[in-house]
Amino acid sequence: MQVRLEHVTHVYAGSDEAAAVQVLNDVSLDIAPGAFAVLRGASGSGKSTILNLIGAVDRPTSGRVYLGGIETSAASEQHLTLLRRKSIGFVFQQFNLIPTLTVFENVAFPLSLAKVNRRDIDSRTRAMLERVGLAHRASHYPNELSGGEMQRVAIGRAVIHRPPLIVADEPTGNLDSKNGASVLELIRSIHETEHPTIVMATHSDAAAAFGEYTISVADGNVSR
Ligand SMILES: Nc1ncnc2c1ncn2[C@@H]1O[C@H](COP(=O)(O)OP(=O)(O)OP(=O)(O)O)[C@@H](O)[C@H]1O
Ligand SMILES: [Mg+2]
Repeated sequence: MQVRLEHVTHVYAGSDEAAAVQVLNDVSLDIAPGAFAVLRGASGSGKSTILNLIGAVDRPTSGRVYLGGIETSAASEQHLTLLRRKSIGFVFQQFNLIPTLTVFENVAFPLSLAKVNRRDIDSRTRAMLERVGLAHRASHYPNELSGGEMQRVAIGRAVIHRPPLIVADEPTGNLDSKNGASVLELIRSIHETEHPTIVMATHSDAAAAFGEYTISVADGNVSR
């Protein structure tokens, strides 16, 4: 899926006392279908802001955002909800698993939302759990897993419906180097086999090395 930002500006409105914060100033960006791009930049430079715009979680203050030719910055909330469910997989630093669901149910969740039939949900979820190396933990709950295991479950959930776009915000930020490496290997294997577009923000040189190229974020803008 192609990702395109055209002259995007983003301002977070402050409360009455707090001044508004302009984070992005006239950002234009093109990421080709199937590319693996890495966002780098200092804390507060706007990486998560860009990922939220790309993932259609937030709208730009001005400018346009396109995903695969659809202008998401102009689409209805209803349309965006469906687009996010069907076409985007999200991976977060904090994993964001659903604590009341088992590992199996967490990974199956996007298929349940898509009303896939029960038998297919079962076989696809089992296959995904094998792939992320957690078949033996299917009936456990997230709080019974290590951080690395939680992130592998979260990646299984992010990709089980084969979204053409994966947005990852510091996916190894809470992991030690060994678990981080296993999560990055998993992301790389998904990229190699399914060819989704991946946009990943990271502070880590080791993580950045997994991408095809780097986009630097600084002073409200981006450069390659
Ligand atoms: N909801 C918000 N309201 C006001 N300001 C915000 C909001 N979200 C982010 N900001 C500000 O916007 C700027 C960019 O934030 P963003 O989270 O995009 O940075 P980042 O590059 O992801 O940083 P980090 O590496 O620490 O995750 C920061 O100055 C931040 O304080
Ligand atoms: Mg961030």
